[in-house]
Amino acid sequence: MSLSRVFVFLLCLPGLLLANERPPAAAIASAHPLASQAGMAILAQGGNAFDAAIAVSAVLAVVEPYGSGMGGGGFWLLHRASDGKDIMIDGRETAPLAAHRDMYLDAQGEVIPGLSMNGPLAAGIPGQAAALVHLAEHYARLPLRTSLAPAIQHAREGVAVGESYRRMAGFRLEALRAWPETAAIFLHNGEVPAAGHRLVQTDLAETLSRLAENGLDGFYRGDTAKAVLTAMERHGGIWSQADFDSYRIIEREPIRSHYQGHEIISAAPPSSGGVALATILHILAQFPLDELDEVARTHLLAEAMRRAYRDRAQYLGDTDFVEVPLERLSHPHYGAGLAAAIRLDRATPSSDLPGVAAAPGGTHTSHFSVLDSEGNYVAATLSINYPFGSGFVVPGTGLLLNNEMDDFSSRPGSPNAYGLVGAEANAIAPGKRMLSSMSPSFVRNPDSLVVLGTPGGSRIISMVLQGILAHIDGAPLEAWIGRPRVHHQYLPDKLYLEPDALDEETRLALIALGHQLEPLASPWGNMQALLWDKRTAQVSAASDPRGGGQALVIPNK
Ligand code: GLY
Repeated sequence: MSLSRVFVFLLCLPGLLLANERPPAAAIASAHPLASQAGMAILAQGGNAFDAAIAVSAVLAVVEPYGSGMGGGGFWLLHRASDGKDIMIDGRETAPLAAHRDMYLDAQGEVIPGLSMNGPLAAGIPGQAAALVHLAEHYARLPLRTSLAPAIQHAREGVAVGESYRRMAGFRLEALRAWPETAAIFLHNGEVPAAGHRLVQTDLAETLSRLAENGLDGFYRGDTAKAVLTAMERHGGIWSQADFDSYRIIEREPIRSHYQGHEIISAAPPSSGGVALATILHILAQFPLDELDEVARTHLLAEAMRRAYRDRAQYLGDTDFVEVPLERLSHPHYGAGLAAAIRLDRATPSSDLPGVAAAPGGTHTSHFSVLDSEGNYVAATLSINYPFGSGFVVPGTGLLLNNEMDDFSSRPGSPNAYGLVGAEANAIAPGKRMLSSMSPSFVRNPDSLVVLGTPGGSRIISMVLQGILAHIDGAPLEAWIGRPRVHHQYLPDKLYLEPDALDEETRLALIALGHQLEPLASPWGNMQALLWDKRTAQVSAASDPRGGGQALVIPNK
């Protein structure tokens, strides 16, 4: 090859790569059809994946108020095609500046039931509004006025409530009835509204409009902030303007791990997701999973989860406040070391591992995934923690506040049954972010990209893991997203099974290995995932059959 031809080839290469990196279609999967449709409408108006992410986040806040909201926070994992940058936007809530380590304990040092769950004291300083402004200013293309328009419209005109709404409202009925403003918006005559009832949120529409018009000042200052602080003072909250002034979005480097030729990119602390996924995958990499039967595979999965969730409880917290051995925990050698102690013929009782207090973790949340025609993509997991968060709506704003403070360890430092002290890393401190399990993730190799995530509290990590493994095994997206899942989180020492997970023979074999099986009556999770198969040049999307979401794929024109 002559020198000039080499030069020409090299000159063309970046261009070719860029051309190859454009997907043949845009795709969105989210937990609600109106959110997916809003995202697509924003793409059609010339927005990119980041504009769509703003629109989807805000619409979910309106139409799925039990999962996430403007009174909550989340993590937006971004990939920008123009420079190949992966970045995590950390819009997690923070503990108020007046918070303190023992704020949920009585004089005897016992946890006061419900205090970190219900009402204004349970809420962390919301980060979602700041995150949407940050996305708009640094990554998106359209003004917030445009990307927030669908959410404002749905809040103002109302949306029909569905079965998921009714189930969650029934679950949190007491908390919703506790506050007149909350009951007036989310209930009908104090009861769970009938299917089809229109949920109208005019105050929330105004709150969103102030954000759209004035950015951060429209939420963390001015009328919205004033209403929030007045309500806090009136109802026993501890927030001040200083909490709003000091709230910051943080851009974080995601956690990266490698497994069977794929790169896994996931959330960094204050999420435990990326680190736990790395540990589990590095443990599993020590075994020939492909050659093993379902009993051995499930056994190893449970043993790997057990160990990673123990480490989660022991070490993880907000890295801006505590030292977390991130490099060690996410290093392949560490996983290999843990794997060496796993026996194939016997489950390790969790009590045989160095003890630590069990990890807390909320149960609800929402996830969506977006891919645009330029090759930008977003995996975002958003939360107000429990269904309908703290149940407290700030009068005049429609803002339903989170109860994310419950994700802190309310009583760290207490010795457990083994005399060891755990969960210190996740103790409450002013301005600190509470530990999360939210795991928005990308799985990439030269042939494919998967963008995925799910709600589900502490089970988020194990669900995302099983999605990753199934994809790497070659299962089609539409098949693996609905597959029954298993879960182990160290404590309680149980292997949880979704309905229909594992046949009777496999269950008996796992019991014989020493696993304590806990079959659950209800399914869990609501995965929203996209696949860009670069070998076949096809994009597909899937919304978990367990939920009422929608996956859309629109081919490029
Ligand atoms: N509140 C659920 C989580 O952050 O993991």
